[in-house]
Amino acid sequence: MKIGILGVGHIGKTLARKLSAAGHHVKVANSRGPETIDAEALATGARAATTAQAVQDVDVVILSIPLNRLPAVAPLVAKLPPETVVMDTSNYYPQRDSKIDAIEAGQVESLWVAEQLGRPIVKAWNSILADSFAKKGKAAGSANRIALPVAADREPDLTVGMALVEDTGFDAFDAGKLADSWRQQPGAPCYCTDLTRKELPAALAATERARLPKRRDLSVAAVFERLGDGTKNPDAEYAVRLNRALFL
Ligand SMILES: NC(=O)c1ccc[n+]([C@@H]2O[C@H](COP(=O)([O-])OP(=O)(O)OC[C@H]3O[C@@H](n4cnc5c(N)ncnc54)[C@H](OP(=O)(O)O)[C@@H]3O)[C@@H](O)[C@H]2O)c1
Repeated sequence: MKIGILGVGHIGKTLARKLSAAGHHVKVANSRGPETIDAEALATGARAATTAQAVQDVDVVILSIPLNRLPAVAPLVAKLPPETVVMDTSNYYPQRDSKIDAIEAGQVESLWVAEQLGRPIVKAWNSILADSFAKKGKAAGSANRIALPVAADREPDLTVGMALVEDTGFDAFDAGKLADSWRQQPGAPCYCTDLTRKELPAALAATERARLPKRRDLSVAAVFERLGDGTKNPDAEYAVRLNRALFL
């Protein structure tokens, strides 16, 4: 497929590498221009582009930028044909994104995103930490392959979104419509806890919506407490262990 990725940070660069390696034609863009894109993101064939070039003549656009930056790319997304599949990896962290009243009042994050963009999206890859995403992908059928929830409102979007998640080395699990995608938001049992296909359905079913923001903030606070004195910076596995303790 022809894929344009906006955002070449922790998640976007791994998407670029994995999807190119899987045989897709990938263009990537950040906010500062193609010449600033790290060669690492281009190592398996992705091409650096401007944001306008990245979303031109593609089948799929993947947005991998901070949630509060999504309104800035809405004008570009608005120009896409209706059948283009738009995927989004974002999560809401008020500590980073500033408080967004509608989400604070309970709006599902992906519905807020869809509203900002004026079109449906596929929510995917939001529930795995960058380190696990880069290092823990496996071939389909491998034992203990990590499973990732994928939510979408349109059937063709879901089909494409699930196939691309599989291409990045993870079992894709149909997690239902965007309205139900709070089950994969920060603080949820499946959120950045590296669950397998066998474990994921029960985790989604057990999610308690009202508890998510508090659990998300506890996790952020615990990580910041470690960062505090600079001597015990947590590694990636600490974050997975912490999330498992708090969210499962
Ligand atoms: N990090 C994780 O472990 C993780 C896991 C799952 C999901 N996520 C979510 O995925 C999203 C990306 O996270 P990340 O950690 O990869 O972020 P990141 O490392 O901070 O990278 C953000 C990327 O977005 C680009 N960007 C920002 N505004 C843009 C714009 N208007 N147009 C084009 N590109 C723009 C930045 O480009 P410039 O540098 O040029 O500004 C940068 O390449 C976030 O919503 C995050 O919550 C993150």
